[in-house]
Amino acid sequence: IRVEWSIEDAEKGGYPHYMLKEIMEQPRVLYETYTGLLSSKELAEAAKLIASARKVFITGAGTSYHAGLVFAYYIARYAKRVATPFIASEYTVYSDVADEDSVLIAVSQSGETIDTLQALRAFKSKGAKIIAVSNVLGSTIPRESHTTIYTRAGPEIGVAATKTFLTQVLALTSLALTLATEEGTITTTEYKKAIEELALAGRAAARSIDASLRILDKLVLVLKNKGNMYILSRGIGVPLAYEAALKVKEVSYIHAEAYPAGESKHGPIALVERDFPVIFLGVPPEDVLLEKLQGNVMEMKARGAHTIVIGTTPYGKLEGVDVFIDVGSYDELLIPYAIIPPAQLLAYKLAVALNRDPDKPRNLAKTVTVE
Ligand code: G6P
Repeated sequence: IRVEWSIEDAEKGGYPHYMLKEIMEQPRVLYETYTGLLSSKELAEAAKLIASARKVFITGAGTSYHAGLVFAYYIARYAKRVATPFIASEYTVYSDVADEDSVLIAVSQSGETIDTLQALRAFKSKGAKIIAVSNVLGSTIPRESHTTIYTRAGPEIGVAATKTFLTQVLALTSLALTLATEEGTITTTEYKKAIEELALAGRAAARSIDASLRILDKLVLVLKNKGNMYILSRGIGVPLAYEAALKVKEVSYIHAEAYPAGESKHGPIALVERDFPVIFLGVPPEDVLLEKLQGNVMEMKARGAHTIVIGTTPYGKLEGVDVFIDVGSYDELLIPYAIIPPAQLLAYKLAVALNRDPDKPRNLAKTVTVE
């Protein structure tokens, strides 16, 4: 496998910031990652390792951990397998139970994050098989793994991960689907259909970028003056909410906290008063989740919250919503690509509106190589 980066790739390409350039590049790099995955044999190799393991773990730090949460959802949904996600720095409790029947998926954009590397080494010393998901060819984590699935996001210069997240999600979703055919939990026809659908990931991202830009400009005028916000969702939307909140915190320094919407009444709602912003991510399957989210919107509205929904078209019928961003209609497979770009753009625009440098947030490093 060869992953090539050119000098131009590392420049801003006419955008004021790398973060914006990298958000806008997502349609292209998703397609490149997709075609790369189709022509690689690592997906099948990795699926075999998982199929023959009894225990499956997935780890990463920051955004890469959130990609792991998305994987845990899809592997359960499609392959009927349980994968335990954990934050890399908390590895010891999990590596203690690892053995030769275990597989660890180590997700790291840079391939150099020390916490993820240490988790990998601890698992490996117990005889576990290691699958890396990385964006950097030949970096340490891939080198120490049994097989590596590469994303093809190209160099990411902005400190906050954007395009690498969705390409990780694409790689991990393809892995879950490959495993599902291996396990016989989906038919070959279903697999083919799903893979064809994933070719449209980039298009979903492009569409939701277009649909959200103007509304976000208005929304930012209100949100930039807030000190806190919640981001709530259900199902596959929960890991996406964690990622959205992380982006807002990292680059705008506004405190954004994500929760499963159902959990919001077990504590978080105590903070909600007049004009407190609550962003809901509305995701499929709508027949199961829409009514439930409606209940959560009403609970927040009753406390005077400023309610914002970033969701699929059916969520347009929710009541008690102040701002609705319609990302289009998608099923669970494509929803990350439609929901995440507007959230990234929101974080970016908040940073710019508050005169903060989105490319180099204070106190943060692109790659953390010390414990
Ligand atoms: C740092 C970066 C994050 C990134 C995390 C994991 O904290 O600021 O954006 O998600 O490291 O990085 P990795 O390269 O392992 O994916």
